[in-house]
Amino acid sequence: MKIDNNIESHLIEKRVFKPSKDFAKRAQIKSLDQYRRMYRESISRPDKFWGREAKELTWQKQWKKVVEWKVPFAKWFVGGKLNLSENCLDRHLASPRRNKAAILWEGEPGDRRTLTYQQLHHEVCRFANVLKRNKIDKGDRVIIYLPTIPEAAIAMLACARIGAVHSVVFGGFSADAIRDRIADSGAIAVITADGSYRRGAIVPLKKNVDDGLHGKTSIKRVIVFRRAGNDIHMEEGRDVWWHRELEYVDANCPPAALDSEHPLYILYTSGSTGKPKGILHTTGGYLVGIYSTMKYVFDVRDEDIFWCTADVGWVTGHSYVVYGPLANGATTLMYEGAPNWPEPDRFWRIIEDYRVNILYTAPTAIRAFIRWGDEWVAKHDLSSLRLLGTVGEPINPEAWIWYHKKIGGGRCPIVDTWWQTETGAILITPLPGAIPTKPGSATLPFFGVDATIVDEKGHEVGANVGGKLIIRRPWPSMLRTIYGDKERYKKQYWSEFKGNYLTGDGARRDEDGYFWIVGRIDDVLNVAGHRLGTSEIESALVSHARVAEAAVVGRPDDLKGQSVVAFVTLKSGVEPSFTLKRELRDHVGAHIGAIAKPDEVRFAEVLPKTRSGKIMRRLLKEIASGARVTGDTTTLEDFSVLTKLRDSEE
Ligand code: WTA
Repeated sequence: MKIDNNIESHLIEKRVFKPSKDFAKRAQIKSLDQYRRMYRESISRPDKFWGREAKELTWQKQWKKVVEWKVPFAKWFVGGKLNLSENCLDRHLASPRRNKAAILWEGEPGDRRTLTYQQLHHEVCRFANVLKRNKIDKGDRVIIYLPTIPEAAIAMLACARIGAVHSVVFGGFSADAIRDRIADSGAIAVITADGSYRRGAIVPLKKNVDDGLHGKTSIKRVIVFRRAGNDIHMEEGRDVWWHRELEYVDANCPPAALDSEHPLYILYTSGSTGKPKGILHTTGGYLVGIYSTMKYVFDVRDEDIFWCTADVGWVTGHSYVVYGPLANGATTLMYEGAPNWPEPDRFWRIIEDYRVNILYTAPTAIRAFIRWGDEWVAKHDLSSLRLLGTVGEPINPEAWIWYHKKIGGGRCPIVDTWWQTETGAILITPLPGAIPTKPGSATLPFFGVDATIVDEKGHEVGANVGGKLIIRRPWPSMLRTIYGDKERYKKQYWSEFKGNYLTGDGARRDEDGYFWIVGRIDDVLNVAGHRLGTSEIESALVSHARVAEAAVVGRPDDLKGQSVVAFVTLKSGVEPSFTLKRELRDHVGAHIGAIAKPDEVRFAEVLPKTRSGKIMRRLLKEIASGARVTGDTTTLEDFSVLTKLRDSEE
């Protein structure tokens, strides 16, 4: 039924997976009751709840007030002083964790390194002294353009140690992206490498930096780590080698006492208008947010090996490759390369070799694994895994089931974690020992998160009615502003429903209060007066045995407002045919209803994705309506996709 302007939701998933008794017994949060009790406290007495969490960490000066909220600007742990690198490193040196692996790293070519907490501390202190030697001070902005190698973590932690503000630029981005981010942040230094490995080839990182620095620039220093050994140009007076600089410093570098609201990093994320937004995170609240979510959501134990497969260039890499695990004294695994290099079983090989216990990856990767075929998984012993996670997009229920069965052997809980670059840490998620999961739902809000769903007017909607996902109060790890643009910050996130944070996502809540994210509001379809989320139609398509991946967009239609166009990637070995097209339309009809049946199904070899794996529906919309692609394509992973998609036209 159509209700006002709300997003309709038709896909009902009935399967429920309860945490096993064994898992629950050893988990941080052991039951739904315990979760509910703690959640209630976190909402009714946030000062008490977050104060207790924060006290588990190291503060150089105790805060005076837990939170100060002057809409839309929040301060957390006001008056407190601390250092993030001290919390990630020094804090563990007085315990047996001193000799525990902090980082296990594998390069794409197969080279390996292990850094214990003590070794990592030593390297971070030395590199922090290199920064100081190169006149980088507290508050200065530093661009980090490195592959996922231990030096990326070392550089981030060294900045945090002296109070410099890092801005990590994903190693797959081009010279233009580097130039834009330098211009916006006013950075004075770049930390990079000569090159990095990707599917066996060398990516010329330093050359990209050189190209990005042509003309007028605020950059005074470029520090270059030797990774790939490729030939590079070193600019006299500007560029220095990482390993040479280390010769001049010692490992004595006390952590700076920084204000709780001292800026920690700027991370650029693409906005709908094209101009990237510099999301600013600060020290105290961010630390508490990632510390608590890592502890409760991943339920990490001292003996665990935790592997988050994200690149350090994304927020997931910041919060759950580097800061979250280290703040908890966990062992974090870093892998530099592609999941299908040299063969599609690289991830499973790594899990078997290192006996990984917790795996955190993205639906886009899971769908690729399904496409590549189960035989790659079957070759490896994955019995060390005890918990799985996903992030980045709604996970299609069928992909969830595959992940559960084939990777988790039917025994590992799955935490489907909803959050954003802006939120800093996970906000809606199962807690693996406490919250029963339903495939495709991120389930319930994390502690302190007051999330709800509203209609266009800001009224809360009832069960199973779609609307806009908002957060009604500040949380510790939230963004503090868009760097250099307070007005945009206010307008984008806080003005539509005053005093509430607008996530930009559409969602519904079921009769158990579970959240189902249906995708970005901008992607919602309007078919004959019905507003439909794209993710449900996509999930219906993916539940067909021959489909690997699907993206659904609207095309202007005189009669219906919009018609539904589905781009579909088939599993390897499946031949496209007209019969299959008809079958898929009927399949959606049977799963959701006639209203959602695609008017057109197009088979595509690949779908256009951002570098972080999200499907770029905006481009597909333009292609579907026969228009030229005009929008920003700088985040597109593979340009040849566009031509291939055009060729897919009937
Ligand atoms: C989407 C990544 C459904 C959502 C940490 C959000 C998700 C955007 C999920 C943020 C999930 C992320 N289920 N959708 N579990 N996780 N999203 O900034 O649309 O790269 O707004 O942060 O990804 O993407 P970002």
